[in-house]
Amino acid sequence: MIENNWNTSLYEGKHSFVWQYGEDLLQLLAPQPEERILDIGCGTGQLTAKITDTGAMAVGIDADADMIAKAKSNYPQIQFSVTDAREFHTETPFDAVFSNAVLHWIPQADVVINRIYQALKPGGRLVAEFGGKGNISTIKQAIYTVLTAMGQSPEKLNPWYFPSIGEYTSVLEQQGFDVTYAHLLERPTPLTDGDRGMENWIRMFGDRFFVGMAPEQISQAIQTIENLLKPILYQNGNWIADYRRIRVVAVRRGGGKEGRSEGVRE
Ligand code: BEZ
Repeated sequence: MIENNWNTSLYEGKHSFVWQYGEDLLQLLAPQPEERILDIGCGTGQLTAKITDTGAMAVGIDADADMIAKAKSNYPQIQFSVTDAREFHTETPFDAVFSNAVLHWIPQADVVINRIYQALKPGGRLVAEFGGKGNISTIKQAIYTVLTAMGQSPEKLNPWYFPSIGEYTSVLEQQGFDVTYAHLLERPTPLTDGDRGMENWIRMFGDRFFVGMAPEQISQAIQTIENLLKPILYQNGNWIADYRRIRVVAVRRGGGKEGRSEGVRE
């Protein structure tokens, strides 16, 4: 994940759905024995470990030092390192790059996609899932409404990037990939911890909206956000987040002329 001082216990506990939902993305990755696979934004390493369980060799990177420390203690046999995906370099290119629930923290899509391109062998694949256009739109709207009423400028603090399929796949193509699969899917996601689910979620993933505010002001803002959201996202004692994801598979162009257009790299 992007450096954010994540609470690793919350990530592995109350927010474990982040990597649990990523498990079926692994089917799209279909790791093969002996393949070298880079897991970008590996968090505490659960999906990296699942990749190695198939016989592939996985390396996990994450910009957050606490996440990597926990990943190393969870899976000491796997190679993990604290690295920002926008700055990743390798001497030995990978067969595949995998990324779950991270690219929506990186608005510089061209930069990270270029790094992924450089990290892959020609013909190597990127398999990724991230928040797409319209992701958590109800939650985001409520945050914007409440913070604006409090005199804040939420658009300046927004850490999230939720592109459309068209936008993201265009960048992939410009950067030398052929996109073989792209899907935008609704994924209403039940949050754990009953009544407290939305507050936990906002404090974990939306904390950058509240930078510089006093603790009582933050609590008051979150309470008002919850009041706006309750009629829409709260059912039978549980909160449901209005997630919307993009899944994409893209193949790094090889030395041939396939899918190439003028002005495109290679
Ligand atoms: C997501 O996984 O879609 C997501 C998580 C936290 C904040 C924004 C998006």
